[in-house]
Amino acid sequence: MNARVESGADAIGAVPELPRASWGDVARNFVQNALRTDMRSSLERMHRSYGNGVMHRAGPVDMVNLFGPDANRLVLLDRDGLFSARKPWMAIMGRIFPNGLLLRDGAEHKHQRKIMHEAFKRNALRSYAERMNPMIEAGIEDWGGARKAFQSYKVLTLDIAASIFVGVDLGPETRRMNGVFEDMVAASMSIVRLPIQGLEFKRGLDGRAFLARYFRELLPKKRADAGADMLSRLARAQNESGDRLADQDVIDHMIFLMMAAHDTTTSSLTSMTYELARHPEWQERVRAEAFALGKPWLDFEDVERQKTLTLVMKETLRRYPPLPVIPRIAERDFEFEGRRVPAGAMVIVAPIHTHHMPEWFPAPDVFDPERFAPERAEHERHTHAWIPFGGGPHHCLGLRFAETQIKSVMHQLVRRYRFRVEPGYRMPVQQAPISKPRDGLPVTFERL
Ligand code: HEM
Repeated sequence: MNARVESGADAIGAVPELPRASWGDVARNFVQNALRTDMRSSLERMHRSYGNGVMHRAGPVDMVNLFGPDANRLVLLDRDGLFSARKPWMAIMGRIFPNGLLLRDGAEHKHQRKIMHEAFKRNALRSYAERMNPMIEAGIEDWGGARKAFQSYKVLTLDIAASIFVGVDLGPETRRMNGVFEDMVAASMSIVRLPIQGLEFKRGLDGRAFLARYFRELLPKKRADAGADMLSRLARAQNESGDRLADQDVIDHMIFLMMAAHDTTTSSLTSMTYELARHPEWQERVRAEAFALGKPWLDFEDVERQKTLTLVMKETLRRYPPLPVIPRIAERDFEFEGRRVPAGAMVIVAPIHTHHMPEWFPAPDVFDPERFAPERAEHERHTHAWIPFGGGPHHCLGLRFAETQIKSVMHQLVRRYRFRVEPGYRMPVQQAPISKPRDGLPVTFERL
């Protein structure tokens, strides 16, 4: 499995370029991606036809798909400083979420990430967990009956975010903030990106301006008090030299964090609900573990101890990685498996593809949480076979937060409800830009 991965500019001009996809394949992929249908199949077809790397033209840009764990390691670890995360993410969401941590590169990124890390340390996570538990309890209180899982989780995670991220209690202020936030997320995915009154994109820009103003007004108080919410922690955070984040940085990071947190967590909870509804034996195992703990709420210390829940979460993120693909721009020419990739190319690695490679995850379409159990540990056979949280310098900063929130919600849910989908139901998954069900996942919750 040792791909010959080389990088650097020496004599690289003599190396042949990666194969180019045929126009037929490019057109088919374009349609599938535009319609957001089946990204996984188109990636699998490209991999079968061209091997571990293929290039195609999209307008003025060379797009390069690299496949497999070795490619993931090369691109995500980026040991040679070849790739920009800022450039592709700026093109995708930069107008609405500029200067979020993922939209920064190099030394500046490293510096800011180090300071932000303060707000993600164990003591901070412990206090977030304490704060979210009663909110989860109140939020799921009336979930009995038929409902759309995705929309329900969205409301729940947004309400939790308002409290934990910003420190505001539920009320009109939260509702306004959540509405604005939804506008921004919708705008970041708009196809028509013109600031014209009445268009989705303009609503997103206005939303951003509102939220930026709102955070700016809160900042003096947040810098001064000892609040436990994320905004207060970011406002006070400093590195060992005493450097702090400037006001504008705190605002940009906050807005990005709320986006990075809520869609991904909603996506994961929805997919997990689907798989547990289809596999009642696993739902019962998770429930038995939750009752065996003997606590209505998961304490932070319990999060990693819930073994069955951990297996189920990992398998869910394998089958439905919320971010199905991760983009970079190559800053220099580099060589991958004896082929040249030109500077300026948009290089894409695909968790959704690697997670379904049978040589790494046998019977990849089977929901089989035991594959993550220590005896099998399929994900540990390569450092970059299981990458729902990315890797390297941009490795998800919020992964422990996400794990805490997902598990805390599921712990309370299985103790209160048994849930099911209609017999024979298959969730229609829209894999891109974030994995989610096209029908919201209709599910029935029965009170225990
Ligand atoms: C299951 C939930 C989540 C998944 C699957 C996920 C996935 C990812 C992935 C794949 C990346 C790397 C993207 C890239 O390299 O281009 C990333 C980065 C990031 N995530 Fe998450 N994420 C999740 C939840 C969260 C939460 C809850 C937060 C915040 C509380 C968060 C904050 C971030 C930040 C700040 C970055 C950028 C890190 C950097 O550039 O240094 N994420 N996430």
